[in-house]
Amino acid sequence: MHAIEVNNLTKRFGTLAAVDHVSFSVREGEIFGLLGPNGAGKTTIIRMLSTLTRPTEGTASVGGYDVVKEDGKVRELIGLVSEKIILYDRLTAKENLWFFGRLYNIPGELLNKKIDELLRLVKLTKWKNSQVGTFSTGMRQRMNVIRAMLNMPEVLFLDEPTLGLDPQSSVEIREFIRKINRENKVTIILTTHIMVEADMLCDRIGIIDYGKIVALDTSTNLKKLVSGADSTILELEIPNLTTDMIHSIRSLKCVSSVSQNNSTCIKVNANGDDAFDTIIDAIRANKRKIISVKNLEPTLEDVFLQITGHEVRDKADQKIKMHRHHMAKPRVR
Ligand SMILES: Nc1ncnc2c1ncn2[C@@H]1O[C@H](COP(=O)(O)OP(=O)(O)O)[C@@H](O)[C@H]1O
Ligand SMILES: [Mg+2]
Repeated sequence: MHAIEVNNLTKRFGTLAAVDHVSFSVREGEIFGLLGPNGAGKTTIIRMLSTLTRPTEGTASVGGYDVVKEDGKVRELIGLVSEKIILYDRLTAKENLWFFGRLYNIPGELLNKKIDELLRLVKLTKWKNSQVGTFSTGMRQRMNVIRAMLNMPEVLFLDEPTLGLDPQSSVEIREFIRKINRENKVTIILTTHIMVEADMLCDRIGIIDYGKIVALDTSTNLKKLVSGADSTILELEIPNLTTDMIHSIRSLKCVSSVSQNNSTCIKVNANGDDAFDTIIDAIRANKRKIISVKNLEPTLEDVFLQITGHEVRDKADQKIKMHRHHMAKPRVR
């Protein structure tokens, strides 16, 4: 049986389709990722699946229970880590967990055991009796994750679990997520706008853009979409790079995109059997030295660019604004 099944799930806010006929299913024990830029609709999907908001259209079930008709049943078997951290600064780690555990009606003895076990899991045992207000952001997020684990959920929702964390804490949280998934056999659905995070953690990834799932597969298979027969990704180191030089590479027929990494390094996506030679020849024709050429494996970034036609970071935000502006216009009948 699937842990989660989603069929044509849709959420409209006015005329904006924040989530637009999304369908997917998540297998038991899987870590499933929803990857997409800000405003893509990730949080809205999580909110519908965790029964916090109702779908406008379509259906979804978690653990076999309908998120609308059997919302109480769904709530019993899920844990949710939302973007906002919910902890009491003045209470200790243990007191916080005790408070939330009692809300779930977990009997005292069992709860004590559970708290110790979870604190151990995320290496916070030493701070059991310290006030949460003194914790680093990384420690607070670890607390936030185990708080959602108190009721031993079958399905755990993690909405941008590493948002705002420093790189070291992000790495730790990712390790804990994997550990929780393996050791506690929890099905996990997580959202992120960080490509490497999805790549490292998720068994399968749904790429979401403007409320629609535009691709869904394992990371390896998604990358095959770009590394298809005749595509090439080159990283070139060229001293004294000029905008003219970059323009002339970009204007080559075989080149689909050029991005500049730093003052001497560019990344070129190209297609065709002779793309490599064509690019090198063009640079030589400009009388430029090439210090190094690397043939890169595609990243999820490349996949996203190829499928959506825009990059995740910069342009995405801009487009959302335009998109929303457009959507907000009254319809002409
Ligand atoms: N309560 C709401 N009312 C109106 N618009 C909303 C509401 N919640 C989200 N949106 C809009 O829906 C879109 C998707 O938002 P969200 O699900 O938060 O995206 P993500 O989590 O991927 O960043 C955005 O354009 C956002 O502004
Ligand atoms: Mg969000």
